[in-house]
Amino acid sequence: MKSSRLDDNIKRINRLGHYSKPEKIQGAVKLDSNENFALEQDFVADVAVKAARQVDLREYPLDQLDELYSRLARYAGVSARCLAAGSGSDQIIELLLSTLRSRRATVFAPTFSYFINRCELHGIKVDQVPLERDFTLDTKAFVKSARKSDLVYICSPNNPTGNQLERQQAIDIIDSLEDRIVLVDEAYVDFADYSLSADAAKRDNVIVLRTLSKAFGLAGARVGYMVASEKFARTFRSTIQSPYPISTLSLAIASGVLARADHVRQIIKAVRSERGRVFARIAKIDGIKKFRSDANFLFIEAGGNYLAISRSLRNHGIVVKLLGNLAGHRGCMRITIGTREMNDKFLRCIEGVL
Ligand SMILES: Cc1ncc(COP(=O)(O)O)c(C=O)c1O
Repeated sequence: MKSSRLDDNIKRINRLGHYSKPEKIQGAVKLDSNENFALEQDFVADVAVKAARQVDLREYPLDQLDELYSRLARYAGVSARCLAAGSGSDQIIELLLSTLRSRRATVFAPTFSYFINRCELHGIKVDQVPLERDFTLDTKAFVKSARKSDLVYICSPNNPTGNQLERQQAIDIIDSLEDRIVLVDEAYVDFADYSLSADAAKRDNVIVLRTLSKAFGLAGARVGYMVASEKFARTFRSTIQSPYPISTLSLAIASGVLARADHVRQIIKAVRSERGRVFARIAKIDGIKKFRSDANFLFIEAGGNYLAISRSLRNHGIVVKLLGNLAGHRGCMRITIGTREMNDKFLRCIEGVL
């Protein structure tokens, strides 16, 4: 029998790389997805309960988006007119790829694999410029490749390596790619030292992606946003984005947490301090190499100790992102910075192995 058109598509799509969702293990110390467990569950639940009482779910969400934009504008320090929201930054990436008609993208590698997978799904060729061994970027090599593309993706702080490009380097790159679309994924920027949001608002070619999934503890609410020129943000909101991309409840919860941004800022400070503490403890362990992080996770290279550490973490119910051999580094792991208690469990476990 002749295979159907749908079958042909299933075969083609199944040949592409796909993003594997992490497995949920009940009761585990969850350090694999860069969520923010340092933000108290009660704090988020309290905001959510108040939000649920305020909204009328029988109505489509109308004015809640405007409230979100004005709160985000205050937090990110940009005009509300330069913002557009989506159901997580994943959905915004998806919409950009399906509407911008790019044929070729440049990324540095390793980076956020979802972006690369989505490009492949849309038939966009991806050129990968390897990062240096210390995960810094050779600007010249990157810009040279980027000039052959029409879309450039810069994840900064980068997932999975954790480091943010130096501000001047990022500016030099976007300055030299004025005729390309530059997508700067700042999912982890709240834990870093600077954001390109204000720069994106002033330029015609730069889109900054941000999210409430990480620092703001709302991975389950699915709220992401972009900062771009007023012109592009307006087009995205009016024509590219669907009319009701985020549920009323998620919008009200997001605005509720943003209204208490001062508390979130304190938690971010605590996570940054924990990041320093975990980093310093790992530095004392022979046989593990650590890398600078500006995010809420650390990238480590365990080399020959990878299997023993992975086994011990599993036995202690601690889940981290196991990356194996990556970009010339042996036995790599990405570990979320959690509460002090979670981090201590992780540290005790690896200190027990080595
Ligand atoms: C670099 C990066 N961008 C985007 C996302 C997706 O975030 P969201 O939850 O807003 O879809 C993630 C999530 O892990 C990420 O690491």
